[in-house]
Amino acid sequence: MAGDAPEIIRVEGLWKVFGRDPRRVLSDKNGSLSKEELRRKTGCVVGLRDISLTIGKGKFYIIMGLSGSGKSTLIRTLIRLVNPTSGKIYVKGQDITKLTENDLLDLRKNTFGMVFQHYGLLPHLTVLDNAAFGLKVRKLPKEQQNEMAMQALETVGLGGWEHYYPDNLSGGMQQRVGLARALAAEPEILLMDEPFSGLDPLIRRQMQDEFLELQEKLQKTIVFVTHDLSEALKLGDQIAILHDGAIAQIGTPEEIVTNPADEYVREFVQDASPAKVVSAGSIMESPELLLYSWEGPRTALTILKKSNRLGTFVVDKEHKLLGVANQERLEKFLASSDNSESSKLGPPVVKEIPAVREDCILEDLFSMVHTNPYPVPVVSDTGRLLGVVKTDDIFEAISPHE
Ligand SMILES: Nc1ncnc2c1ncn2[C@@H]1O[C@H](COP(=O)(O)OP(=O)(O)OP(=O)(O)O)[C@@H](O)[C@H]1O
Ligand SMILES: [Mg+2]
Repeated sequence: MAGDAPEIIRVEGLWKVFGRDPRRVLSDKNGSLSKEELRRKTGCVVGLRDISLTIGKGKFYIIMGLSGSGKSTLIRTLIRLVNPTSGKIYVKGQDITKLTENDLLDLRKNTFGMVFQHYGLLPHLTVLDNAAFGLKVRKLPKEQQNEMAMQALETVGLGGWEHYYPDNLSGGMQQRVGLARALAAEPEILLMDEPFSGLDPLIRRQMQDEFLELQEKLQKTIVFVTHDLSEALKLGDQIAILHDGAIAQIGTPEEIVTNPADEYVREFVQDASPAKVVSAGSIMESPELLLYSWEGPRTALTILKKSNRLGTFVVDKEHKLLGVANQERLEKFLASSDNSESSKLGPPVVKEIPAVREDCILEDLFSMVHTNPYPVPVVSDTGRLLGVVKTDDIFEAISPHE
């Protein structure tokens, strides 16, 4: 499933077998053999085993797995840098396993950008010429090449470095050049194979943060290989976990961490904290009692007393959250006002309180439930009350099951 986004890449029943006469390996007889058994029996190595997945447009799609699990083979197969042994690959609805060599080159140049772990910069070219490399291949006029490459360098924070050579730059900066080179041609889809794993941890984290910010603006489709779980959880909308060339699980970071499909995935995620991936939206409940802005203070007080509550949330006609009203404030207001029954619930009776969005992770909710006597309200972009999160539910969600 591509989730809520339209599909941009779909892979169906994809196999890659390395070795002599690989198709022979795909017979029914071999279907149940493990990668190692197949290697012993046939001498062939299974790189990818019956992979099917769908990538949504604009999504950050992570491919994760141990070394040798097939991550690089999979990402390279998406543009047929590795040719599949069988199966289908659709890019924007077109089956690219059928493309001629020329059409394939066009597709790679025009639709995709690639970033690798080893930056693959050309040492004798300046930063600008490296960034413009893909545009040169496209045979754009020199002026336009430079203009687009400069813009990409600005985007990755390297304005001013265009006349230096890669050797003059740190690893993090070289990787930015690699990224600029991929971005310069304005590809729809970025393929990134462990782009940050050669970097020191601090630089790496900084690059991840910057890249996330950039992605907010660019909204590209990104296919990103990593073997680092925390990187996957931080960046990914969807994660596909590979095991010996096969899909072990596909899911959101939250699904993978809270509901690992098998032992292999469980080992991967055992150190991950659900507090970092479970969102307010997934554990919120309907509020048990609501007050409405058109109710009068006396009515509100009666409702609260009857239902034995000190206070609760107040919403308006559009279900927008106005805040909370509690017995103490209501009583004070009624005592100080002669004509109180005619007025409606609103300031100063209703007190504004902090609310969160659906995608707020539990880690960020901790401090709020600590200081807040009410459950934490969850609101939409327009301020509508969607649900509430109770302290107990937070602790329930982050405590290990089983
Ligand atoms: N050209 C090739 N010839 C033969 N076997 C190959 C070839 N390329 C990859 N393989 C095999 O396919 C399997 C998957 O390799 P791949 O490079 O895709 O793994 P990976 O998940 O990217 O690993 P890493 O994390 O080490 O980069 C491995 O068993 C590997 O030995
Ligand atoms: Mg690899």
